[in-house]
Amino acid sequence: MSADTHREPILPPGPETPFTPDTNEATFAAIPQWLAAHGDVVRLSAEGRRHGSYLLNDADAIRHVLVKNHANYRKGPGFNRVKMLLGNGIIVSDGAFWRRQRRLIQPAFNRKVLARMLRFVQQANAARRERWQALADAGAVIDVTTEAADLSLEVILRTLFGEDFDRLTDQQGGNPFAFLTEDLTRDMQVVLRFRGLMKLMQDLIHWRRETRPERDDFLAMFLDARDRDTGEAMSDKELIDELMTFIIAGHETSAITLNWTWYFLARHPEEAERARAEILSVTGGAMPGYEQLGRFERIRRVVSEALRLYPPVWLFSRTAIGDDRIGDYAIPAGTDLFISPYYLHRHPAHWPDAEAFDPDRFAPEAEKARHPTAYIPFSAGPRRCIGDVFAMLEMQLHFGLMLPRFSLEYRDEQPLELEPFINLRTRHNLRYRITPV
Ligand code: HEM
Repeated sequence: MSADTHREPILPPGPETPFTPDTNEATFAAIPQWLAAHGDVVRLSAEGRRHGSYLLNDADAIRHVLVKNHANYRKGPGFNRVKMLLGNGIIVSDGAFWRRQRRLIQPAFNRKVLARMLRFVQQANAARRERWQALADAGAVIDVTTEAADLSLEVILRTLFGEDFDRLTDQQGGNPFAFLTEDLTRDMQVVLRFRGLMKLMQDLIHWRRETRPERDDFLAMFLDARDRDTGEAMSDKELIDELMTFIIAGHETSAITLNWTWYFLARHPEEAERARAEILSVTGGAMPGYEQLGRFERIRRVVSEALRLYPPVWLFSRTAIGDDRIGDYAIPAGTDLFISPYYLHRHPAHWPDAEAFDPDRFAPEAEKARHPTAYIPFSAGPRRCIGDVFAMLEMQLHFGLMLPRFSLEYRDEQPLELEPFINLRTRHNLRYRITPV
């Protein structure tokens, strides 16, 4: 679809019944019907609103919005539920403030820094390996969904707070952030608990500013960051918003990816065996180091394929600031645009036999040949996930350590069901028989 033609633009086709998309089951179920009936750009009217919303499932149209003309789009609806927690953190902010925050934070995600931060990922996984070893020796059943949630939370907390993570946990008699892995919508105490966390972070920020302990973690980088024009540091409130943003954005997405990747490895033991053999040839079974992670090609492909089939962020949105057009279609200012990586990743134009699990779709030559926005588990353009490289390192390290030691045999009797809320989860926890290799 080309972005510029000379014809008068028209409104895209769509169903007559008004519908407001959201991260819920009704939207998840309706999308394939709209796509089948109306094509890759669908207009949905909304009761009481002049501008409805569009669903975009065309890779060119998506590229136009996220990359080429990104300046005309701000974050769309859907973040309201988390805004209370994340304030004006970079996942929700827009415009000049977002640009400033992203510039301040981006240096923490350059590869040299991430290579240093890897020690926290190693530490969390080393402890988890001990725990899994005991389970494997007993031939026990392991709940990988819960394990992955706990592990991912620990990884992001250690990377943000460094040595102070253990100090906070000791002081509080347990990990004060642990409730974040539970279903927050069912927890009436959640607002109070969040206030408690804000206070904890505020105290930590003050303590760091006053005592200046030697630290090398994300918080240290955020504290040291200075605006290149004004020389200003982030305020306490800005820091707290960003810390909360990183905790929320960085743990469940990674946990879900671990969960799905284990699912596919258990379902495809031949793939697990190939990945295991490759890892062993690189590490000999020891804790992987930064330089080694890039050599785990099989597991990179498996994780990428898991992210294609079950992208944790399955639906996200933008709102048009000014009028725009995509091909023949008009996009009036104020229109909300919805993009679903889940359905785009099944588009027959880019993904033959899309439901089949095939990690070799991510062979380097196949990746190069593909449309640049046919695969967007981390979004694309300037608002692309800042943690994408970190997340892949986290995955590579986890499987690089665990696969050579453990074999997981899928044994859940429940049929696999999806839970398409803010993130796309499995409705039931996945359990496996764990055995030593
Ligand atoms: C496999 C794991 C992950 C997936 C699938 C994922 C996915 C995404 C997606 C799709 C977006 C863009 C959302 C939008 O445009 O509306 C995003 C943004 C973001 N992610 Fe991730 N993410 C992952 C891991 C992480 C991690 C580990 C961190 C932190 C260390 C992180 C931090 C962020 C932040 C801060 C943003 C906002 C960036 C901005 O708007 O400038 N993510 N992520």
